[in-house]
Amino acid sequence: MQIDKNLIEKLKASKSIVFFTGAGISAESGIPTFRGKEGIWNKLKPEELANFDAFLKNPELVWEWYNHRKKIIHQSQPNQGHIAIAEMQSALGGFPEVAVITQNIDNLHRRAGSKTVYELHGNIERNYCIKCRTFYNEELDFSKGIPKCKCGGLIRPDVVWFGEYLPENQFDASEKTAQNCDIFFIVGTSAVVYPAASLIFTAKQNKAYLVEINIEETEISNYADWSFYGEAGSILPQIINEIKKFHNNSH
Ligand code: APR
Repeated sequence: MQIDKNLIEKLKASKSIVFFTGAGISAESGIPTFRGKEGIWNKLKPEELANFDAFLKNPELVWEWYNHRKKIIHQSQPNQGHIAIAEMQSALGGFPEVAVITQNIDNLHRRAGSKTVYELHGNIERNYCIKCRTFYNEELDFSKGIPKCKCGGLIRPDVVWFGEYLPENQFDASEKTAQNCDIFFIVGTSAVVYPAASLIFTAKQNKAYLVEINIEETEISNYADWSFYGEAGSILPQIINEIKKFHNNSH
């Protein structure tokens, strides 16, 4: 795969880089995406599983679904895409600022060693009481049915459901980061879910160089300055190798 010299020059001149990721970056770890041919939402109804009213109506079904996803995630490992990004955040990458803004709840960026990770849609490893918002991050006990808080409230996963607001602190920090970055990578997302996808346009309006990495064209392909069509797990390591090359040559 040829890496455009413009992109290499941009990388060389960059101080702040953002990786905006979606379910596609975890596909090679065996975690199904939401849309597309094998997408989850082709088989299951988000209105029955990923919204608050559905949870109140049938918490057993919603928990069965999240425990099923958690099981798949716990059996999965970060792939070369997650690892390459973590490397770019480390001294190896040599960039002062590299942030991950993710729509994924699978915690794989953190498990790959990424430090600065903004989680727009929450994290499946956290849970909280819907009544008093006490957090429960240890494994929950389902032996006596749906876990309840000591206040009696139902405990839910700390993920953002359709119709819910994104966590303000995560979105605000993501917006600031998108406003001040030099390169904004868009990795493995269909870019159809808002307000997350609005960050792409925030970066564009602030003159960031947009680089898309996806197995196919998406809603935002026309806005990208450069697009790589292929698997994130093979493209991202190649980009980090290019970066290592010019860092080694400069020392
Ligand atoms: N490498 C790169 N891109 C890939 C790969 C891969 N190996 N496999 C799939 N893709 C791409 C698909 O072509 C698609 O464009 O990843 C994208 C996944 O899109 P979605 O399934 O729509 O996932 P995402 O964009 O993350 O969804 C956003 O929607 O359902 C909600 O809350 C959920 O966070 C999620 C949000």
